[in-house]
Amino acid sequence: MAAFPVLHYHRLLLRPGLHLSRTPFSPPFLRPFSFPVSARSSSSSSSSASTASRDETEEIAQQQQQLIDVNPPRGTRDFPPEDMRLRNWLFQHFREVSRILSFEEVDFPVLESEALFIRKAGEEITQQLYNFEDKGGRRVVLRPELTPSLARLVIKQGKSVSLPLKWFTIGQCWRYERMTRGRRREHYQWNMDIFGVTRVRAEAELIHAIVLLFERLGITSSDVGIRVSSRKVLQAVLQMYSIPENLFAEVCVIVDKLGKITKEEVEKELMLAGVTPEAVKGIVEVLSLKSLETLEEILGSDGEAVADLKKLFSLAEHYGYSQWISFDASVVRGLAYYTGIVFEAFDREGKLRAICGGGRYDRLLSTFGSEDIPACGFGFGDAVVVELLKEKGLLPDPARQVDDIVFPLDVELEDQASMVASSLRRKGRSVDLVEDRRLKWVFKHAERINASRLILVGNSEWQRGTVRVKVLSTREEYEVKINELG
Ligand code: HAM
Repeated sequence: MAAFPVLHYHRLLLRPGLHLSRTPFSPPFLRPFSFPVSARSSSSSSSSASTASRDETEEIAQQQQQLIDVNPPRGTRDFPPEDMRLRNWLFQHFREVSRILSFEEVDFPVLESEALFIRKAGEEITQQLYNFEDKGGRRVVLRPELTPSLARLVIKQGKSVSLPLKWFTIGQCWRYERMTRGRRREHYQWNMDIFGVTRVRAEAELIHAIVLLFERLGITSSDVGIRVSSRKVLQAVLQMYSIPENLFAEVCVIVDKLGKITKEEVEKELMLAGVTPEAVKGIVEVLSLKSLETLEEILGSDGEAVADLKKLFSLAEHYGYSQWISFDASVVRGLAYYTGIVFEAFDREGKLRAICGGGRYDRLLSTFGSEDIPACGFGFGDAVVVELLKEKGLLPDPARQVDDIVFPLDVELEDQASMVASSLRRKGRSVDLVEDRRLKWVFKHAERINASRLILVGNSEWQRGTVRVKVLSTREEYEVKINELG
């Protein structure tokens, strides 16, 4: 059997920019695209030479079949360096805002137990699970959101955590979604959550964080708004019509479909769930409200829904973000566990899906068999905001940033160049050590990677115990003693 450098072959095939079929002198195993394998393998011959060549051809055919699809699974993304720089830029803002609000970072596994995500209210998210059985027969999921993992960790930490706790996390989530703009099967979410605060101060802090993030990205309140409501509005309506409490979560999930399916379909689903026609009418009417005063007229001013919302709007004035938020009773959110104030950020042009969303979920822990702790938080995806930044021309192109390029002008100076690079790196500078290139290429490379300085290691300078430094922004050039190079 012909010995094929299989791994090498694959590496070459997958190297971007390497056009094998155009390489004139490439050996046969490097020309997988250049001839029709089936035509060749069909010409049979009894001679050993042609048998060898047939074996070789079959082997090549096999190799060809092994050429994998280089695209990632549908709905998922690769992050080549330029995309990774952008992602890091965004995540740094997430982290910085969290730090400014004095939140601590936590993390959990992407793979979680399926039981954590099984809920009965008919949420879309539970139908989109990437779930399977692992080799040990356990039902697991790739998490679709971070909140249940967060709750799990809070329960696990038990009494060792002092409340209130303020945690943030950035993690990848998986949902088998129908894909639209900004909606993917994999996305990263920045979550900020507060446990142990019953007062609306918690919601006010979270919305403050979201506003600070937008401001840092250059997004203004004329680009984006945050719609706020409370699930207690629906709860009050259900009470008015004596609808049993246990229908609450299911009603919320159905009502959240308004705008996605027709009003008639929503009404039908509500009735199927056991809501009376009068109550359905009452729910639909209340959901169209955009004025807190009218809500107060309907529900009265002594209910929690109105009191919470009024408090939030008053706090917003003191934080200075009133222009970002508005009351909109149609915001219910599609997740079953919310119990109080809910909010969603949206682009005012209405081109994109929700940029972020969250709310209060005071009763999630008891659904996991633990004692409840009041909690609220939000999830902010990486995909929708990038679409928005593109729309607004605000998407930066973070350049690669390298401090120095060290280049030996002579191959014999490679050891000396290693010493120079090593000493600079020990001082914390980022150094690209380049060799085997022409000086012209090195200058172009320096421009491409945005290097600040070029350190040339030359023979005569080295004899004098120096290297030559070129500052690329000013074109200034000087010689410096090796031990003084910093
Ligand atoms: P969610 O509304 O399902 O809430 O997701 C939060 C955010 O994640 C969305 O507003 C959006 O930015 C992003 N997102 C969700 N699904 C996708 C997708 N398929 N593709 C791209 N981006 C997506 C939650 O997940 C709650 N657990 C948030 C929360 C935290 N509530 C309290 N604490």
